Amino acid sequence: MLQANWGDTLFTLQKGDITQVETQAVVNAANSRLAGGGGVDGAIHRAAGPELMAECREIGGCPTGQAVITGAGCMKALKVIHTVGPIYRGSPKDAELLADCYVNSLERARENGLATVAFPSISTGAYGYPLDQAALVALSAVRDYLMAHAGVFKEIKMVLFDQTALDAYQRALDEL
Ligand code: APR
Repeated sequence: MLQANWGDTLFTLQKGDITQVETQAVVNAANSRLAGGGGVDGAIHRAAGPELMAECREIGGCPTGQAVITGAGCMKALKVIHTVGPIYRGSPKDAELLADCYVNSLERARENGLATVAFPSISTGAYGYPLDQAALVALSAVRDYLMAHAGVFKEIKMVLFDQTALDAYQRALDEL
């Protein structure tokens, strides 16, 4: 399954580069210093240009599981929501913090009247969260939020960078 309808919101899975996706808000898998990095963070900063780093510096940081919002520099999107995923340690706290990332990002989007949001697979690159486990946590958090906030969003997309990630999220969506 590649899509679902949760609380009047279309939820979709797609493969691709999140910087190229049509969306009002792009979620970034950042670090707690908002200092930029590799992976999706690097790709978003490259696509947005130096304005994004200037805004991040002004904010100064973001605790794990929380989310902050900035402009999107030269990207087509209106806003970037920076959230900080947990570094995977294999403790029960990991799933809680990862779910918080999705919930708090959706909260920032809702507060700012953004109707479409694109998420990458938070924590599953440099932060080492096992893909299958992360996919289940991500999808249940998004589903529960959308069911509790029916009609707020038009579309939420998960943009997976490669086939392995897409397959994992597809399996998780079938399992929910
Ligand atoms: N579009 C969509 N997904 C992408 C892109 C992209 N352009 N580039 C990478 N990804 C995918 C990776 O394949 C991975 O599945 O994003 C997922 C998350 O990986 P990371 O970017 O490494 O994020 P994370 O595991 O949360 O680690 C965050 O990495 O870049 C640093 O500053 C960042 O310190 C922070 C840490």
